[in-house]
Amino acid sequence: MAFPAVRSPRTPAEWDAYYQLRYAVLRQPWQQPPGSERSPADAEPGTVHALLLASEFEHPPVALAVGMLQPTTAHEGQVRFMAVAPEAAGTGLGRQIMAYLEAQARAAGLSELVLHSRESAVGFYQRLGYEVVEPSHTLFGVIPHFLMRKRP
Ligand SMILES: CC(C)(COP(=O)(O)OP(=O)(O)OC[C@H]1O[C@@H](n2cnc3c(N)ncnc32)[C@H](O)[C@@H]1OP(=O)(O)O)[C@@H](O)C(=O)NCCC(=O)NCCS
Repeated sequence: MAFPAVRSPRTPAEWDAYYQLRYAVLRQPWQQPPGSERSPADAEPGTVHALLLASEFEHPPVALAVGMLQPTTAHEGQVRFMAVAPEAAGTGLGRQIMAYLEAQARAAGLSELVLHSRESAVGFYQRLGYEVVEPSHTLFGVIPHFLMRKRP
């Protein structure tokens, strides 16, 4: 099945779908309150948001995959809030989101990408060429993370 191309959210309804998927995949399963899926970095200049919709014609729009790139220095960016809808996992959508964010990073002149991966997703990022640097934080007291990096 062909999905629309990855792009940034454009309309208020698309932003709603974007944050809804973030919340459903990355926050709600750990009983985090609505709003916890948002970050001040979302609105910073230079931040790139990637959204893959189920359809360009569905109303309200439904997000299948999302991700975000936050420039952290003039040379480095951090990938954050990667989330694929469970029913669409394993079908290449995460790879598409990462390809979009990496292209945006190259276009912005970033020479290094870092991310903090959940333990369960380390294999996904390794498949895309990221390497583990070191263990990092434990989210919500139960989800170990690993710092990973790649030259985009
Ligand atoms: C982790 C996640 C982003 C991966 O996205 P996805 O769309 O399911 O992955 P893709 O289908 O694009 O997979 C790309 C490749 O990585 C592999 N892969 C995907 N998830 C993997 C995982 N958890 N562990 C190891 N390999 C994985 C796939 O088999 C595929 O390999 P291939 O090159 O042989 O085809 C997604 O499953 C997800 O949102 N999980 C829950 C939330 C989460 O953990 N987010 C990341 C927080 S750091």
